[in-house]
Amino acid sequence: MTIEEKIGQMCQFMGVEQVRQNDDKSGQFPANSDSVATYPGLHAQDIEQMVRDGKVGSFFMVFTAKDADYLQSLARESRLKIPLLIGTDAIHGNGLVSGDTVYPAPLSMASTFDDALVERVAAEAALEIRASGSSWTFSPNVDVARDARWGRVGETFGEDPFLVGRMGAAMVRGYQGKDRPASERVLACMKHLIAGSVPVNGLNGAPTEISERTLRSVFLPPYLDCIKAGAGSLMTAHHDLNGVPCHANSWIMETLMRKEAGFSGFVVSDWRDIERLYTVHHFAASPQEAVYLSVQAGMDMHMHGPGFFEDLLQLVKAGRISEERINQSVRRILAAKFQLGLFETNSLQAGDVLNTSVRLEHRQTALEAARKGLVLLKNQDALLPINTNRYKQILVTGPLADSPVILGDWVQTQPKESTITVLDGLRKVAPPGCKIVFHDCGKTVKKTTPEAIAEAQKLAAESDLVILVVGENSLRSAPYDKDRTSGENHDRSDIELPGQQLELARAVAATGKPVVVVLVNSRPVGSEWIADNIPAILEAWEPGCQGGLAVAEVLFGNVNPSGRLPITIPRSVGHIQSFYNYKPSQYFRGYVGSKTEPLYWFGHGLSYTTFKYSNLHVPADIKPGQSVAVKVDVTNSGTRSGDEVVLVYTHDVLGTVTTPVRELKAFTRVTLAPGETKTVEINIAYDQLAIIDQEMKRVVEPGDFEVFVGNQKTKFTILP
Ligand code: NOJ
Repeated sequence: MTIEEKIGQMCQFMGVEQVRQNDDKSGQFPANSDSVATYPGLHAQDIEQMVRDGKVGSFFMVFTAKDADYLQSLARESRLKIPLLIGTDAIHGNGLVSGDTVYPAPLSMASTFDDALVERVAAEAALEIRASGSSWTFSPNVDVARDARWGRVGETFGEDPFLVGRMGAAMVRGYQGKDRPASERVLACMKHLIAGSVPVNGLNGAPTEISERTLRSVFLPPYLDCIKAGAGSLMTAHHDLNGVPCHANSWIMETLMRKEAGFSGFVVSDWRDIERLYTVHHFAASPQEAVYLSVQAGMDMHMHGPGFFEDLLQLVKAGRISEERINQSVRRILAAKFQLGLFETNSLQAGDVLNTSVRLEHRQTALEAARKGLVLLKNQDALLPINTNRYKQILVTGPLADSPVILGDWVQTQPKESTITVLDGLRKVAPPGCKIVFHDCGKTVKKTTPEAIAEAQKLAAESDLVILVVGENSLRSAPYDKDRTSGENHDRSDIELPGQQLELARAVAATGKPVVVVLVNSRPVGSEWIADNIPAILEAWEPGCQGGLAVAEVLFGNVNPSGRLPITIPRSVGHIQSFYNYKPSQYFRGYVGSKTEPLYWFGHGLSYTTFKYSNLHVPADIKPGQSVAVKVDVTNSGTRSGDEVVLVYTHDVLGTVTTPVRELKAFTRVTLAPGETKTVEINIAYDQLAIIDQEMKRVVEPGDFEVFVGNQKTKFTILP
């Protein structure tokens, strides 16, 4: 390969159809957007020629197999005919493609505590991604979410490193499916290295200041899990980490990922973040210096656009970057292309595997995930499931009652018929004789008019029960994109319900009619008033294309809710950070003028039945290196069958550094008929008990550990 061909492999562009559409919008990269761009002075035909010249290795934002095949055909005209690696943001299904399956948002999938299901979701998504011409997805997002102001919480698997790691690894296995034919696999991309989920002010891309211990014990483990699962690529984060921007940070790319964790895939930059080393961080003296610093720190591929190729070529020609350094990146990128079978298949062939019945199966999986991910937060006096003998006329209202916002972020306009809204679901599931009255109070979460609130109140007074669907909006498809309150680059300085939704809730509740609040949101909504005054609250998160059906099934009792919170819901924005695995001194004092504890802790979630735990047993002594075998009996002590998520926590009683009051170390899901008891046997891997000691080494220290499962508690000792 010539040096130009090698550097070409490291270059990525936006799909030429996107470029063509934006061709007339001359101008600059909007500095603040991470999803809209034009290439000033560079037109679609220029990029096409660059592909023929072997100067482009990758594209993204290519949404049809036809467009992808066209680009691949241009690559076949190049001297070496190296196929293009086409990436996409398919983070809960291939939602940027119209008609593809939109699974629940990652936070919702985390609430299932069912990683086998999440692996299946990723495997199915892989088929749809391949069928639309891409073979690489910028997922999983394994950021550990501890700040509810940050708009991207819903893209993550929540606040617990163990859960995030298990879910992230499941997605990697699902996407990359070693045992499936190459044409049915896509390359995973774990992101965003690292800790951008705790920006100093909650804003996406703002600096993160955290200790190395917190970084290693909370934010790093999910990456280690994904690497063990074989993750083939990695994306660095927008922000400046303790003073060194992630895009020029060799400690995170080279030391943590490659040297310590053995990562052998390639690293891609995030959207124009190499350029931002110069334009935003003032860390590089020029755009070319930014390329130098990033590539020398370990960057393998540039997302996206012009400039990088020319700068890198000059740097190599000037002898500042060695050709051997370029070879490393090119080997990694080519290895991925070979593993994906890109030299053998084109996307139209890959599309053949997707027939209607496969797509229907995928919808069914989306429904299963939505059902398992719904979290019943509150159910005073067993208001739910709805007793339709008593509540015959039900008012359904709220800005999200009949809205595709349930689809979540990273989704473009989907056909109406492939999205079941909450209202659609309720109409489908309501038994005969139960009348659903819908009040459209406007589709925006940002504004509800006084007239709409007054009308809702009047209709509530005439009904027997109210279902109020409120929350936030992260949907990026028109016309909802104008109205976003969460999602990428939509961070907030408040975590109450936006707009007049609280007034709406107060107004319908003031009628004295029982109110069920369904929350649609992609990060914690901390509404103390709702928690205190509304008798039944269902956290739906963003439950995806079948979400409205799942919500209705739970409300009417056809499905017993079983999801658990993967993230703590703080009482207010001032209570951030609130997370369950806190250090012993965190609540030594309380706040003046408000309660200190969160509204709901991580792990919370009610059922229509009850479960009892008994006979928790672990061996008294554990030898170094030995895993801890936990046994516990779980009984369904209620009258309905249901799933129980069994969560096993430990507490390292005394350490050479302070340790959290409890940490999740294992989980599983069991299905139990009424009266049935199952003995759950589950292992805690020895390494899970490690702390990061004063020398920043990961070690398991001998001594006592407490174990908590349900209301049971016991202990074991790690022998020296
Ligand atoms: C910016 C986001 O931070 C990243 O997650 C995404 O994959 C890229 N844009 C590409 O859209």
